[in-house]
Amino acid sequence: MVYDILITHIKGLVQVRNQSLHKVAGKEMANLPILEDAFLIISQGLIHSFGLMKELPSSVNAHTTIDATGRFVFPSFVDSHTHLVYAAPREEEFVMKIKGATYEEIAARGGGILNSAKKLQTLSEEELLDVSLPRAWEIIHMGTGAVEIKSGYGLTTKDELKMLRVARRIGIETPLTLKTTFLGAHAVPKNKSKDQYISEVIHEMIPAVAEEKLADYIDVFCETGFFTPAETELIVEAGKEFGLIPRIHANQLSRSGGVQVGVKTGAISVDHLENLGDEEIDILKESETMPTSLPGAAFFLNLPFTPARKIIDAGLPLAIASDYNPGSAPSGNMPLMLSLACIKMRITPEEAINAATINTCYTLGLSQTHGSVTEGKVANLFITNPISSVASIPYSFGINPVSRVILNGKLIPTKSAW
Ligand code: NIG
Ligand code: FE
Repeated sequence: MVYDILITHIKGLVQVRNQSLHKVAGKEMANLPILEDAFLIISQGLIHSFGLMKELPSSVNAHTTIDATGRFVFPSFVDSHTHLVYAAPREEEFVMKIKGATYEEIAARGGGILNSAKKLQTLSEEELLDVSLPRAWEIIHMGTGAVEIKSGYGLTTKDELKMLRVARRIGIETPLTLKTTFLGAHAVPKNKSKDQYISEVIHEMIPAVAEEKLADYIDVFCETGFFTPAETELIVEAGKEFGLIPRIHANQLSRSGGVQVGVKTGAISVDHLENLGDEEIDILKESETMPTSLPGAAFFLNLPFTPARKIIDAGLPLAIASDYNPGSAPSGNMPLMLSLACIKMRITPEEAINAATINTCYTLGLSQTHGSVTEGKVANLFITNPISSVASIPYSFGINPVSRVILNGKLIPTKSAW
């Protein structure tokens, strides 16, 4: 039989697992299995088999053979938290921040999320897709193979639906595996009271999103000045009625009660966690909720970083995602997120890679199909440039280590249509 792709002489085949893992926690996070001098065979979009070069039968034939001498092969990153559908960047706020304004001050002046909403409301669905697609291709070329995209810059029923349709279309027009999240409760628009808006989210938006099957998850920005834990609970419970699974923006700017409400409502993940105390860590220990750190946002806003070391040392799992968005993290560069995690949060390269593959998969329901090199899983992989070890990826911060990308078993052209 002739297979689709055979990769030979792989210096290190990373994240090799015989069986799908749900998640990795505590000390287990330091364990990143690597097969040295390996081969990998891809057939019909899936990882068919892999092993040591010396065990590769000479009879194996493939349409495409890639010699990966000196290179590592990784399972694609799974970025479980982005807002990459947006109309325009916000460089003007970036400069305001450099001059001393805080994220909260900019938001209170009608900047921030409301600024993004104003811009997004003026674009048609086609225009929004046109400006968002290049961001999807950009992350593909930096090693991401599956991504979650949130709404939350529409803030009207019509515009929230438009955002989610665009997000779903990105999953059709690119080879990314895509999950979507309804985040209507991201900010309160200027022309409405908070109660009015929450009622609209619950009674109009959620049913409309569910009707068109536009979202898999529901999110709320649980934060001082945005939505309280009680409001978060109300909204999330309404989403659950329609089958949406909660994931929460929690503890970004303060100890907002976001972790507590996340765990209480059975959220699959609580994200950000820049402000986290022992109380929240203890609560997470009694739950199945994944703590997710977004180091790009802490870096860009000059906030404290998630106490990731403390989280892992408490025996908990940790996930890492990019938060790609125009206000707090204008980058979907997952290799850079690994650098920030290692350098700023003192977690090891092995822990960071587990956090950005297996543990992000857990939060997106992709544990059986993505996130590791396992026979039968979707062939979502990247081949690195020649590097000396996996640590080279976070070490060479800001440099894209990805040489070739394979998604759904197909090689992605190095220079794509964008
Ligand atoms: O995850 N914190 C809330 N939402 C985004 C930022 C949104 C924005 O500023 O546009 C975040 O950081
Ligand atoms: Fe976010």
